[in-house]
Amino acid sequence: MTQNTDMRPAKNARRKKTDADKKRWNPDIVVFACNWCSYAGADTAGVSRVQHEPHFRMIRVMCSGRIQPAFVLHAFEKGADGVLVSGCHIGDCHYIFGNERALEQFEITKNVARLLGIEEGRLRLEWISAAEGARFAKVIDEFTAEVRKLGPSPFRARHPGAVRAKDTGAVGEEKATA
Ligand code: FES
Repeated sequence: MTQNTDMRPAKNARRKKTDADKKRWNPDIVVFACNWCSYAGADTAGVSRVQHEPHFRMIRVMCSGRIQPAFVLHAFEKGADGVLVSGCHIGDCHYIFGNERALEQFEITKNVARLLGIEEGRLRLEWISAAEGARFAKVIDEFTAEVRKLGPSPFRARHPGAVRAKDTGAVGEEKATA
């Protein structure tokens, strides 16, 4: 069996920005991803040079069970237009039942968000494995399109002083507390 050793970038890896791209409003999306599956899935998408929307910041947590409603609501408070929670598929959690806990917490988050007037489309939960780079890209594209359709978060409008996700400089990884 021969291995593909062609290291050149895929032909369509870099798409030129069209005028429509430049005029389009781009949402600020926060993605919470578990270290073992979804974060690795995003990495797989990058390594495989799968094209996807770039308008998101990723916060890595050890397990999706760690993602409490307060985390998601805080992201909205800070100016996120949409929040994606992702973790290992049910049965694959490295901490056995962390993603089942994530599911429960996500239901609570959705209820609180509804009470606050945040549309349901701004919140999403997805299970993405480390091997599913293409799926990660698809989810990001779909979610970005959905949030773009909804427009800027009403929660952000009610908090004009809110800091946009991209201005916090603290995203990328969960911060360790001293
Ligand atoms: S380790 Fe990925 S969801 Fe628990």
